[in-house]
Amino acid sequence: MTVAVGIGTWSRRHLLDVEGLTRDELERILALAVEMRAARAERRHRSLLEAEVVGLAFYEASTRTRVSFELAAKALGATTVDLSVSGSSVVKGESLVDTLRTLERTGVTTLVLRHGSSGAAHLAARTTGLRVVNGGDGIHAHPTQALLDALTLRETFGSLEGVLLTIVGDVVHSRVARSNIHCLLTLGARVRVAGPPAWVAGFDAWPEVEVATRLDDGLRGADAVMALRAQLERGASLPPEVAEWRLDEERMRLADPGAVVMHPGPTNEGVEITADLANGPRSLVGRQVENGVPVRMAVLALVAGVA
Ligand code: NCD
Repeated sequence: MTVAVGIGTWSRRHLLDVEGLTRDELERILALAVEMRAARAERRHRSLLEAEVVGLAFYEASTRTRVSFELAAKALGATTVDLSVSGSSVVKGESLVDTLRTLERTGVTTLVLRHGSSGAAHLAARTTGLRVVNGGDGIHAHPTQALLDALTLRETFGSLEGVLLTIVGDVVHSRVARSNIHCLLTLGARVRVAGPPAWVAGFDAWPEVEVATRLDDGLRGADAVMALRAQLERGASLPPEVAEWRLDEERMRLADPGAVVMHPGPTNEGVEITADLANGPRSLVGRQVENGVPVRMAVLALVAGVA
């Protein structure tokens, strides 16, 4: 059984990155996600992945990504197994590759991997026979987050063409920012990054990305503003001026009057965004989380070759 979405063909057995995906491929994933959302509500495609065993190997903390991958796999009838890293042989010193080969030998067919090292998902794809979906690797990439953000923005604005997203905060340590930049630029949107100089360092080398080191320059004209958490676990420190960058309702007036607010979560309310703004009428944070399951259903179906 396959799900036809009628757009192009899909030939990849991994999703390691957004970089390198064509606009047609991105559009295809988003179209399939919309179909998967309806299918989930109507309890269709419930045995699409019945031959698959999806292994969830999260070497870093996660709520949204892990839970939504598990629910996505189950909604399509896959068996799931959670490695529970802290209770596994990883704590006895087993290497990443040995652990993943063990999962493969036990019958896991698709691996969802989150790891603190940039490149971990590529390593898994190279050294095992598993289909690999990157659930976030170091500061490098978080493809399904970017896809669910793109879907959320597209559904808000109708089209992504020319929409300006400003990403505010610790951009330099953010895999979410990097994947969003690749994804949104490919889909025709504009991206600006904004933060204290240390948090946007190096992004001026990216020709299509605008860089702002003052909040008003960052927010001016933005249709959507995404706040990011300081990634303290990656060596980020809070710059002295961090309070000047906290997003609140008043500062949002510097953006387009109808501008929406996003955050990949987890939020540190009162640090990079106020609770009122994160939970207020401009906020798409809940929609982002909701879109995680159908996007991941689409990705699991595509890498399994059934869509
Ligand atoms: C992000 C991550 O882990 O990269 N969270 C997520 O997956 N929604 C961002 C973060 O941890 O700050």
